[in-house]
Amino acid sequence: MKNLNEPEQPVAVTPVVSAPKKTPPATDPKPDALAAEGIPSRFCCFVTGTDTEIGKTLISAAILHKLAASGRRACGMKPVAAGAEMRDGELHNEDADMLRAAGNVHLPSSITTPFMLKEPAAPHIAAALEGVTIEPVPILAAYTEIHAASDAVVVEGVGGFRVPFNDDFDSADLASQLNLPVILVVGLRLGCISHALLTVEAIVSRGLVLAGWVANTVDPNMRFERENIDALEQRIPAPLLGHVPRLENPTAQAAAEYIDLAGLPGWHSPRVQT
Ligand SMILES: Nc1ncnc2c1ncn2[C@@H]1O[C@H](COP(=O)(O)OP(=O)(O)O)[C@@H](O)[C@H]1O
Ligand SMILES: [Mg+2]
Repeated sequence: MKNLNEPEQPVAVTPVVSAPKKTPPATDPKPDALAAEGIPSRFCCFVTGTDTEIGKTLISAAILHKLAASGRRACGMKPVAAGAEMRDGELHNEDADMLRAAGNVHLPSSITTPFMLKEPAAPHIAAALEGVTIEPVPILAAYTEIHAASDAVVVEGVGGFRVPFNDDFDSADLASQLNLPVILVVGLRLGCISHALLTVEAIVSRGLVLAGWVANTVDPNMRFERENIDALEQRIPAPLLGHVPRLENPTAQAAAEYIDLAGLPGWHSPRVQT
């Protein structure tokens, strides 16, 4: 399959170094024209996790929030959602809704979630119940549309890294076909070290770029949390982008405070200061 993301191969992107900003003369009321500062560099990523219910949606939304706050046209994508209910004549999924609220590019949900399935079950089972086959082409076509309409795209995976979609297509295949840098969310709880390292192995073995990982506190009573993070930092060949503690109010904005993406390729652009 053709790589749809060829122009911005993650490793090939060189962060653009901003020229020092000139303060406009006091007599000039107009800000610098954006066109004079060039097109913002793109930031696209695939967010996966050590499991389901460990904070992928929260962290994806936090990334979108940061992107939108820094002036990008940012759009989330939840290509496959299992668990949707009808509201106002449209199927809604919680994850898709949260990503939509955190971004600032609003495309029809048939594009941001090409496979919106009603049953909250493993996607291949939810799809079979509806007589649907989850296939890559509609997802890749939708991604291309989102990419064209945005400066930044955050794609949230489903469950862990290897969730089956059909007999010969799973979520890891999707990540490979999108060929996006991957951000791994590690849900901090007992057992997360092995889950995280197995997931890293699966990402790296596919030749994908692991851009970084986020530690997210799932179990607020976990003992030795810091030691677990240290063990992971020693073993994961990518930067720790932040540790999100257990939040009283887990909003995109609240989680965004704990994440730093400044070192990632494509994050900086001439007109975006973070
Ligand atoms: N750091 C956190 N603090 C408080 N609640 C959290 C935190 N991370 C996740 N949650 C909550 O846990 C649930 C699962 O998180 P979610 O982001 O939906 O996980 P996933 O996308 O991996 O299934 C949600 O209700 C979310 O609000
Ligand atoms: Mg989710």
